[in-house]
Amino acid sequence: MKKKIFSGVQPSGIPTIGNYIGAMKQFVQRQDDYDCTYCIVNQHAITVPQDPKTLTERTRGLAALYLAMGIDPKKSTIFIQSEVPAHAQAAWIVQCNTYLGELERMTQFKDKSAKQETVSAGLLTYPPLMVADIVLYNTEFVPVGEDQKQHLELTRDFVQRFNNKYGNGKAILTMPEPMIPEDGGRIMSIQDPTSKMSKSDTNTKSFISLLDEPKAIRKKIKSAVTDSSGVIEYDKENKPGISNLLTIFSAFTGKTIPALVEEFAGSGYGNFKEKLADAIVAELEPMQNRYYELLNSKELDDILDEGAKKANAVASETLKRMENAIGLHR
Ligand code: AQP
Repeated sequence: MKKKIFSGVQPSGIPTIGNYIGAMKQFVQRQDDYDCTYCIVNQHAITVPQDPKTLTERTRGLAALYLAMGIDPKKSTIFIQSEVPAHAQAAWIVQCNTYLGELERMTQFKDKSAKQETVSAGLLTYPPLMVADIVLYNTEFVPVGEDQKQHLELTRDFVQRFNNKYGNGKAILTMPEPMIPEDGGRIMSIQDPTSKMSKSDTNTKSFISLLDEPKAIRKKIKSAVTDSSGVIEYDKENKPGISNLLTIFSAFTGKTIPALVEEFAGSGYGNFKEKLADAIVAELEPMQNRYYELLNSKELDDILDEGAKKANAVASETLKRMENAIGLHR
């Protein structure tokens, strides 16, 4: 039997090449060898303020992007989180078995709450919802970027605690493991290479979105922050800008970073950036064409309906197991 994979992306903006390299590219690559379930985690997105109409559009758009990227609904399940009520139900059980101190320690909570004028309780309890997402599908592997590593550790702690407390020696829930790419697990902003590239960044020049037009991609790469040395080499500490661009280049071409350093020795940043933009456009342009074909299609709704049906069947079974274990039944 194939091992089970689960992962998701928030429709909190249009996914960036950071989301793509760190997580979404793996979604496609793994689907032949694993039993994969991919979610559009719209309930996670509302942990910070969202405009309702935009959220609905981005949710549908993200589903279309999953397909346009190459996720095949015949091989993988694709669904929208809010269409499977077991997520919110299981999240409550997880919250009641997670400690406040554990949640307050989460780096993402600290970072994101610092950026908000008012902090919702949901921002603090985001990780238990993520734990629920993962355990409901008996997940063994979770392809994610580095920023989610701490939430995965929390998930593992929860599973161990829950099984020990309620399992009577049996594993009620499956223990998941993160799958983080060796290179590209943390793509940095192209305007400030010391901070992570994020789809909700208010400075749109800091990221390349998967739907940016070729012209915009070329312009953004041209203005990416580097340094004054003009030497193309990988040195994350001293040359974070060019090192980040090398990582992106490698992810879009499959060439190793040392091979790229050799190829562009003495070439100067201008030529390097032009070739990098070409590589990004070559991969994103066909994806964007498929995206626009799918966006308003009935095919997309059919796939999401079928995905929700399949996801509901698996998730409600796990939820029942959790409820039975803790005494939430007649
Ligand atoms: N910069 C990044 N480099 C590599 N991987 C990344 N991921 C996020 N940023 C990078 C990975 O993308 C997946 C989906 O992320 P998410 O939608 O769950 O939310 P996030 O981690 O909070 O990503 P963003 O882009 O920063 O979203 P906002 O701006 O809404 O907070 C995850 O696997 C994540 O690790």
